[in-house]
Amino acid sequence: MAITSRTQVGIIGAGPAGLMLSQLLALRGIDSVLVENRTREYCEARQRAGMLEAGTVAALRAAGAGKRLDVEGLEHDGIYLQFRGERHHVNFRELVGRTVTVYAQTEIVKDLIAVRLAAGAAIEFSASSVAVSGITSDAPVLSYVDASGVAHEVTCDVIAGCDGFHGISRPLVPGLSVYERSYSYSWLGILADAPPSTEELIYSRHESGFALYSMRSPEVSRLYLQVPADERLEDWSDDRIWSELQKRFGLPGWSVSEGRITDKSITPMRSFVAGPMRHGRLFLAGDAAHIVPPCGAKGLNLAVGDAIVLASALSALLTEGSSALADAYSDTCLSRVWRATHFSYFMTSMMHVLPDDPFDDLIQLAQLRYVTGSTPAATSLAENYSGYESPRIEM
Ligand code: APR
Ligand code: PHB
Repeated sequence: MAITSRTQVGIIGAGPAGLMLSQLLALRGIDSVLVENRTREYCEARQRAGMLEAGTVAALRAAGAGKRLDVEGLEHDGIYLQFRGERHHVNFRELVGRTVTVYAQTEIVKDLIAVRLAAGAAIEFSASSVAVSGITSDAPVLSYVDASGVAHEVTCDVIAGCDGFHGISRPLVPGLSVYERSYSYSWLGILADAPPSTEELIYSRHESGFALYSMRSPEVSRLYLQVPADERLEDWSDDRIWSELQKRFGLPGWSVSEGRITDKSITPMRSFVAGPMRHGRLFLAGDAAHIVPPCGAKGLNLAVGDAIVLASALSALLTEGSSALADAYSDTCLSRVWRATHFSYFMTSMMHVLPDDPFDDLIQLAQLRYVTGSTPAATSLAENYSGYESPRIEM
């Protein structure tokens, strides 16, 4: 026999989308139950991206999860674009009056979990057999088996599928349209105990492939290398990684500071958009509905953006009985998602090297010269990178 209960919003997934949504709903007095199939430790340790748009920083603060971010986040005025031995600064602060902030997604997840648990929220980690039924009725049911093996059935007003790309929610939307693009390369990412030798991120296009220099703190660097899509991590010794990084970032008199590598992984690159992001009383948010390649750092910002839009829509629906925002939810999100999908595709195609494609080479060079030489072109990059039409939290 399952234990039965009731809540207003059943949320699947304790990533940034699900956690932010439950926090924003709680601030509006709306109850939720959040069900996650991994352990808390796993969710808090997963290495992901970490570049926040100004709007995402503002949203985390407004949600009450900005304390550590304000102390440990590294605010950046812009980025460097490097190609053909030249390094150019694109200054977002001067161009569009906005900055961006480095603060790892894993830290955001820790902060949001801590805030939710401190408020007495129900987060069911290590849940199994997570399932949803009745999404076209007024009372959909979220069922799961908790960590101690007890079955639960939670009757909800709505369900939010925030369960990432491999979750159970997206397949529940009938007639979904899917648009995708895969790329012939992946990113090999490392985390290293090495003080960054750059104050701003460096996006470097080198004939051997793209490389990104990012950071996590004044002591820890986060670096990425373009590698072929089918590359094996075993083929990349620490020495090989450092020498490739030195080559792809190298400028006379300047080098990448090296240190102990503490994490190494390969991430495939994909653009993926699925819509509509709603069916009946099931709403999708974040990676459950869309994926962008990491170049340009939009994934996390999109997930937080969806949570903000969804919290307002559900608040209007559940406290005022007004369905206008909920009905507009999918279109509202997809318009921002497609803008970010284009920007990520633009950054990805401008920076990555396709072997034996001299046409592509010269097109990329023309584009890099343009965005680093023309103020209107640089302004467009700055506007998109730092957050175009980021949703705001309205309480
Ligand atoms: N039941 C319960 N939880 C699930 C299930 C399931 N069947 N399937 C997946 N999950 C959980 C995952 O374990 C994960 O914790 O859903 C959560 C989804 O979180 P994310 O993958 O972080 O997705 P999202 O919150 O949308 O955040 C998107 O993550 O992948 C990055 O680049 C992406 O930065 C972006 C962010
Ligand atoms: C990161 O810090 O992990 C990061 C930053 C910028 C990107 C991608 C990843 O474009």
